[in-house]
Amino acid sequence: MRRCLDGPSVTAHAFAVDPALERCPFMPTYAPPQVLFVRGRGTELWDDTGKRYLDFLCGLGVTSLGHAHPEVTAAVTEQAEVLLHVSNLFASRPAAGVAVTLDRLLGGGGQVFFTNSGAEANECAIKLARRWGGGEHGRWQVISAYGSFHGRTMAALAATGQPTKHEPFQPLPPGFRHVAWGDVDAAAAAVDDTVAAVLIEAVQGEGGVVAAPPGYLRGLRELCDDLSLLLIVDEVQTGLGRTGRWFGYQHDLPEGVRPDIVTLAKALGNGVPVGACWARAEVAAAFRPGDHGTTYGGQPFAAAAAAAVLKVVERDRLPERANAVGTRLLCRLAAVRGIAAVRGRGLLLAAELEEGRDSRIVQAQLLRRGLVVNAVTPTALRLAPPLIVSDEEIDEAVALITEVLA
Ligand SMILES: Cc1ncc(COP(=O)(O)O)c(C=O)c1O
Repeated sequence: MRRCLDGPSVTAHAFAVDPALERCPFMPTYAPPQVLFVRGRGTELWDDTGKRYLDFLCGLGVTSLGHAHPEVTAAVTEQAEVLLHVSNLFASRPAAGVAVTLDRLLGGGGQVFFTNSGAEANECAIKLARRWGGGEHGRWQVISAYGSFHGRTMAALAATGQPTKHEPFQPLPPGFRHVAWGDVDAAAAAVDDTVAAVLIEAVQGEGGVVAAPPGYLRGLRELCDDLSLLLIVDEVQTGLGRTGRWFGYQHDLPEGVRPDIVTLAKALGNGVPVGACWARAEVAAAFRPGDHGTTYGGQPFAAAAAAAVLKVVERDRLPERANAVGTRLLCRLAAVRGIAAVRGRGLLLAAELEEGRDSRIVQAQLLRRGLVVNAVTPTALRLAPPLIVSDEEIDEAVALITEVLA
């Protein structure tokens, strides 16, 4: 029999998956899991009974190269054999290499701060915006959109434009103004001389997979240029090829035009926790030694994973692949009876179900049949398969969805 821990018997979290796991003292922040995964390869996962699944969620947009990608496995194994960690008081080659690559991909002339998560990447961006704006006696407020999601730490939560997520944790840190998503005029109306930055997603992922309307990011870029504000784009979910371009903002900003700050995480480590906040060097220069830091961010182990990920995404042209394969998935889904509409970009899609259907029930039925997706809203399923997903796997997934909705 499997054991989560052999310590004191604490039933903090009733697992539906295995009564033996009931003794695992996890805080009840997630609903009880229905499946215990033990192994993965590519798009496939296996549970503890040996049942196979297709992973069309990727740990929420993380394992873009698929599970157990041999080059990521080799990179982290090799790194683990020589040096796991030294602290940011010292230099290490893997992080330096990843910073150079990320800066090149983002157009050059920038600097990078490594983190362990998306929320931390956004915390760095928010602190940098305040430092750049002069803090309390200068410009320090950040405008973000309703429906957005920027993370669970206190400042990232305050930036998140979902009041229901704020309620239990009031008072949140001040300095955040929320405006209607997709509306440049609403953002402009929220600006006064205390505002330092606009923080925006290229596709609202947790908000239901809603792509920025055409011209929105362009309009925000112009607004920020006109009023000397920073444009921060949160690419935690959309970055590194998922939407069919390296970065989601590239769907809307003209070639050569870019944000002042970009935050990344999720796909950067393909499952090894690593995030990054990139900023134009003139903006990053607002930070002084001691202003910000992290024990683990960018340590050699995480950076080795990120280096392998970036190498594979670039060499195998995975953004282009996400675009092509995403179109195939979108077209197949749009033809399924029971799906009213499909939205999103590349391989970050949502299938809006026809009226009367509950996406949580459909998600559970699909899981039982061996397809992992997520009910991103009560009426929509999110699909985010790895960028290496095959045509056959797409057809298999769509056949399962068709069967469940029939
Ligand atoms: C756009 C966006 N920003 C930030 C985050 C937070 O990332 P993390 O969970 O790694 O802190 C997420 C997570 O879903 C996200 O989708």
